[in-house]
Amino acid sequence: MSETVAIHYKDAQGAEQKIELPVITGSENEKGIDIGVLRAKTGFITLDPGYMNTGACQSAITYIDGDKGILRYRGFPIEVLAEKAKFLDVAHLLIYGALPTKSQLLNFENEIAQHALLHEDMKEMFEAFPKGAHPMAMLTSMMASLSAFYQDDEGAAGEVFDLNVVRILAKVPSLIAYGYKRSVGRPFMYPSTKLGYCENFLQMMFSLPTEPYEVDPDYAEVLNQLLVCHADHEQNCSTSTVRIARSSRASLFASVAAGVCSLWGPLHGGANQEVIEMLQWIKDDGGDVKKVVELAKKKDSGFRLMGFGHRVYKNFDPRAKIIKAAADKLLGKLKVSDPLLDIAKELEEAALKDAYFVERKLYPNVDFYSGIIYKTMGIPVKAFPAMFALGRMPGWIAHARELSNDPANKIGRPRQIYTGPNVSSFVPLEQRAGARS
Ligand code: SDX
Repeated sequence: MSETVAIHYKDAQGAEQKIELPVITGSENEKGIDIGVLRAKTGFITLDPGYMNTGACQSAITYIDGDKGILRYRGFPIEVLAEKAKFLDVAHLLIYGALPTKSQLLNFENEIAQHALLHEDMKEMFEAFPKGAHPMAMLTSMMASLSAFYQDDEGAAGEVFDLNVVRILAKVPSLIAYGYKRSVGRPFMYPSTKLGYCENFLQMMFSLPTEPYEVDPDYAEVLNQLLVCHADHEQNCSTSTVRIARSSRASLFASVAAGVCSLWGPLHGGANQEVIEMLQWIKDDGGDVKKVVELAKKKDSGFRLMGFGHRVYKNFDPRAKIIKAAADKLLGKLKVSDPLLDIAKELEEAALKDAYFVERKLYPNVDFYSGIIYKTMGIPVKAFPAMFALGRMPGWIAHARELSNDPANKIGRPRQIYTGPNVSSFVPLEQRAGARS
């Protein structure tokens, strides 16, 4: 007998009614009430601003246990993947559901290396951006413009879709690097088919035509770890944006561009930029972390501890642990100390001892330490959200593919409870009060 939930309610005539709704149980025993017939049978909808308690779909890609601080991509713990897997290994795992065989990985890497070149006309598009353009303004535009350069009819999945997967994974590093070169007035550097994914990105970002450039293997290694840690995170804000865009059968380029836009917000992927700016402000202001913790507790201050808190994790974000250790290892190896890392650690210690943060289960999240590493590599702070997007590409693609391949998929179209004026009569121009709400 399958599990159900009963809802007792009064119908439009005031009569007591009851409806039994099926319970869906996931592979990790998560339970959801299937309300698919609720409105048709009862006239009621559910209301859940911010989708705090609402599941948008069933998905087999990523599992998070927020209380235990667990994150797994297709069942593989993030700690293992961050240590043992290459980013393109993980991209293949997320998108196609399995770690690639040696020949599949080689083929995937070669295809991506071959497609890293941008259409030469894209250079003129970069030249059109004003010098101070934010890297995410460039990335959102250039990601959507890929639809103009590659117009093959994509369909839900299959050859063209797989080609567009390769095109996105291949060209996003080039798009970010070209945006950076544009911002500093230096020549674009072409990708090389001889380098690995992370090495290629670093050389496009930092090499110059005037001198030889050696990729620092420590930077390539830690960049790989960062990209793996950012690769997916189930139904977060930007992935939900990609899914709802894709549900209208928008192209993969357009759906991913929508995700880039949504990720940019300072409460989401834009937080890694905000964290460094916050740490720099604390340092310039004398480094008093206790003062900052107190400020973050004041509701009316409008200030939040950026890089802290999470909708799902009510324990340590496992990615924050990995990235914090990677930051320590990199700076230790380079024998550099970064006062912002010291301030971050002091801030973490002070917050985790404070009742306000403990009661609300606010811990460092993925964004709290990542900026320290990007900054050490010489990546400009404003480009940090673009680095988050680079890492998240496989996750967005995986969810777009999963949704497209679901025969039961319907266009996403939430309902609402209307609270505006009831039917109103038209008011002639000379009689209008004009009060705006
Ligand atoms: C990402 O969803 C994902 O999976 C996202 C992500 C991914 O991989 O895709 O993990 C990436 O976006 C990480 C989060 C990056 N954002 C930040 O670091 C910005 C700072 N953090 C927050 O603004 C906040 O914690 C959120 C946005 C992350 C979560 O917000 P929620 O779940 O809506 O929680 P809330 O705003 O309702 O806060 C609950 C309480 C409130 O206090 P009370 O009203 O209960 O008194 O906690 C407080 C908040 O004021 N609070 C904070 C705080 N975060 C929450 N107070 C101070 N500083 C903070 N950072």
